[in-house]
Amino acid sequence: MPGNGYGKEQCMSIAEISLERLQPEAFIRDQVAAIRAAVGSDVAISALSGGVDSAVVTLIGHRALGDQLKTYFIDNGLMREGEPEQIARWFAELDVPVEIVDARDAFFAALKGVTDPEEKREKGITQVFYKDVVGDLVRTSGAKVLLQGTIFTDVEETSAGVKRQHNVFEQIGIDPQKEFGYRVVEPLLQLRKPGVRVVGKALGLPEAIWSRPPFPGPALAARVIGEATPERIALVRKATVVVEEELAGCGAFQYLAVLHEDRVTGLRDGRRDFGHQVEVRCWDSQDAVTATPTELDFGLLRRIADRITSEVPGVVSVTYNITSKPSSCIEAV
Ligand code: XMP
Repeated sequence: MPGNGYGKEQCMSIAEISLERLQPEAFIRDQVAAIRAAVGSDVAISALSGGVDSAVVTLIGHRALGDQLKTYFIDNGLMREGEPEQIARWFAELDVPVEIVDARDAFFAALKGVTDPEEKREKGITQVFYKDVVGDLVRTSGAKVLLQGTIFTDVEETSAGVKRQHNVFEQIGIDPQKEFGYRVVEPLLQLRKPGVRVVGKALGLPEAIWSRPPFPGPALAARVIGEATPERIALVRKATVVVEEELAGCGAFQYLAVLHEDRVTGLRDGRRDFGHQVEVRCWDSQDAVTATPTELDFGLLRRIADRITSEVPGVVSVTYNITSKPSSCIEAV
């Protein structure tokens, strides 16, 4: 993790485009031209994650490069229920072929025994993703460039030392060409999330994609406190299904379930059960820089708790976060 403030000048040198100033059609035209100039006659790779940013980058990249762009969904084992297949289906409908790459074993091997949040991001996600998995794809496809959906907020938070976002390199002094063997092109660097959504809509992405709540690159590993084992990821994945079903359409910026490391005493079928606890978070926010907990209806919260304790094996307790960002962060890791 770079020290606080490292790279701040690079962040400040990015000309942020505010929502008021954003002209989506002109932005898309400029980025299509910039991608063509950066990639030339080479092959580029785009890696979808299910998030809005990578979806928008993929579509701009496809518009710029056509068949010169290879689009992958890297299944790291940390994704939400059915996500790889759903994303591949959505993009097939947009005539963008997506190859699903099964990299589950590599990620879980790297995450084994890792409990520190920043080490999880760095060792477990960044190194395996960029060096091993994308590195292999680059070698087999002959690609020279990775298109990536880094946004202004990612650089800002990393540069300020808040959190090392998994996808920030050049702005903190890491040269991807030297480190991983390919160049990284980042068409969305000047935008924050609301701007990315506007561009996604203008590109003709289905609303189901451009209006999706944000989802972090480290995926469900960012929602398991302590070691992200396949079993613990499966547990938080099930809780996520409940939270997303119950809170879809509630109008919040983002909602999620977190699996805690501590166990708590509970009761099940008249017997003591020393079980898991899940924390539900639901955020009102404009741009993820600051956020406040959504004042959800208490009956709705009770229903979420009932469903999680009955549908997710071993969970005996569900809590709701009532802290703002700051001091909390949106994700728990
Ligand atoms: P935090 O947890 O820093 O999150 O308040 C702010 C926003 O960023 C997302 N997030 C990430 N996105 N890589 C990403 O691509 C990351 O490492 C990462 N960490 C947090 C988070 O979901 C929220 O929308």
